[in-house]
Amino acid sequence: MAPAPRGASATSATGTRAGTTAGTAAEWIPPRPTLPKVRAAAAGCRACHLWTLGTQTVFGEGPRRAAVMVVGEQPGDQEDQAGRPFVGPSGRLLDRALDAAGIDRDTVYVTNTVKHFKWERGGRGGRRIHKTPNAAEVTACRPWLEVEIALVRPRLIVCLGATAAQALLGKQFRVTADRGKAIRGSPFADVVVATVHPSSVLRVPDAAGREQAERAFVADLKRAARHARSESSRSESVRSRATERPSRP
Ligand code: URA
Ligand code: SF4
Repeated sequence: MAPAPRGASATSATGTRAGTTAGTAAEWIPPRPTLPKVRAAAAGCRACHLWTLGTQTVFGEGPRRAAVMVVGEQPGDQEDQAGRPFVGPSGRLLDRALDAAGIDRDTVYVTNTVKHFKWERGGRGGRRIHKTPNAAEVTACRPWLEVEIALVRPRLIVCLGATAAQALLGKQFRVTADRGKAIRGSPFADVVVATVHPSSVLRVPDAAGREQAERAFVADLKRAARHARSESSRSESVRSRATERPSRP
């Protein structure tokens, strides 16, 4: 049984917690959060109905002070089963693209906008088909992403696809128009860059088109890495040279 969230309404006799559907994950965030505490709390999150669909909460993973954070949409079928982000086909493409862009995945914190897999049965064989999370689900889950960002404090955030981009850059953001561009002045990181979701690359039907889409994806990641490097050398020169990262307030 999950611990009761702070400030949540009482659990009814049937075990369903009335009144939390319209809430957000904010009330599940533990006091004085650390990544391990937050991860443990997220495992019991019931802030939206998606916990009933997914096998488990798929929380982000990576170094506590990663300079780069990659934000996807939501776990897919394999991530849902493994409990780890980006371990399926999209993850393999992401690994390859990060490598081609000269970014070591082991130095990257990888997470998702929504932490449970949303799906419906469909297609031949009744596979679990991914469904895009709606605005209410993104809003409900967003506090987990915000606390991850606050604790990791990445210099660069790479949003993969429209769900992540719109969650962090606003509803009006269009990945097609502004992919690969450095967005500065965000409250979340020195530089935020949005690009396409790797699953969109995998969905391109012909091999040549797929290769081209992958090259464009890698080019965006390269550009993002370059923006982050130039940003860090710029801010490094005004920061104390003694500390690699500024200390937390
Ligand atoms: N797609 C995502 O957005 N995230 C994952 O973790 C896997 C696939
Ligand atoms: Fe909580 Fe997010 Fe899962 Fe909804 S999707 S139950 S907000 S962790």
